[in-house]
Amino acid sequence: MKVLILGGGGFLGRKLALSLADRQELRGSKIDQMVLADIVDPKPIDAPFEMEYQRCDISDPASVATCVDAEIDVIYLLAAVVSAHAEQDLDSGIQANIMGVLNVLERCRELETCPVVVFTSSIAVFGGDTPQPFNDYSLPNPQTSYGAQKMIGEYLITDYSRRGLIDGRGFRLPTITVRPGKPNRAASSFMSGIFREPLNGETANCPVEPDFKQLYLSPRKCVENLVKGAELDAVDLGQNRCLTMPGKTWTIAEMIEAMTQVAGPAAATRITWNKQPEIDGILKGWHMDIHPERGLALGLEADESFEDNIRIYLEDDAPKS
Ligand SMILES: NC(=O)c1ccc[n+]([C@@H]2O[C@H](COP(=O)([O-])OP(=O)(O)OC[C@H]3O[C@@H](n4cnc5c(N)ncnc54)[C@H](O)[C@@H]3O)[C@@H](O)[C@H]2O)c1
Repeated sequence: MKVLILGGGGFLGRKLALSLADRQELRGSKIDQMVLADIVDPKPIDAPFEMEYQRCDISDPASVATCVDAEIDVIYLLAAVVSAHAEQDLDSGIQANIMGVLNVLERCRELETCPVVVFTSSIAVFGGDTPQPFNDYSLPNPQTSYGAQKMIGEYLITDYSRRGLIDGRGFRLPTITVRPGKPNRAASSFMSGIFREPLNGETANCPVEPDFKQLYLSPRKCVENLVKGAELDAVDLGQNRCLTMPGKTWTIAEMIEAMTQVAGPAAATRITWNKQPEIDGILKGWHMDIHPERGLALGLEADESFEDNIRIYLEDDAPKS
């Protein structure tokens, strides 16, 4: 079994690669080879099978052809330009999030090998003038270019699957928290920053009110779900190949209380509360009540509590003193 992770240099791509290296198998077959491909150089990992690292720009069909070959059984299509970046730079979003997905699927069509393709969509496909709660059958009505681009990706995944060109599955990821490292260009970046920085002894700004609600999932559970997602039987996915990955809805206040329970009261005092006009418009559209029932029924999982998210960050990612 050969696995390709497009976006293998990113946050989730790297964590997924480490998890697959640990498991050594996927869909009941031993992994013999894994390729990490990204527009930046992916950092090498230790694995008990052959590893390859490639520079690949998914917006360029010739570049896609160099890393998507006929040997590949499973493609994780994680490469993307994220939310606030896609909102500020329409061209980059279109190139990576629409043309990039199309280029990968067209390459699969050309090869006629029908690989499993696991696509990471986003809950940003929901929004606008649509009755809540949102379930897996609600009208996607994205209110950002990123959400619209992800939705187009979902339609392509479903249609290429219907035609038998790929065996696709797409998961609308909740906000993955606590994300390690530096803030990124996602509008949701503060939803990790207000925990990560205070836990590391630094200040961080929260641009929304304490009652702001969102659907969250830890990186560890997300990776577990991406593995399970590749293993789902196509028959169980039926005619709708894309669904929301389970997460749990918490308010900012509930999450800060969870951080206090796990790590003590000092961290919360390092949070400042100022609006950020550059992401205000995006965040206003994010008051969403999302019910990820289909994913739960298919065996995907959410975290038990936000205390777990904090503990997972401290165990897996926090700088060790
Ligand atoms: N992390 C989250 O909270 C979250 C939430 C919803 C959806 N998602 C989706 O999950 C996926 C992974 O997210 P992440 O948090 O790891 O993001 P990330 O930004 O850390 O990783 C994305 C990777 O894609 C690469 N990339 C960008 N353009 C590319 C191109 N043209 N060709 C090849 N590679 C390119 C980047 O270099 C980066 O390494 C993305 O598709 C994202 O939209 C993430």
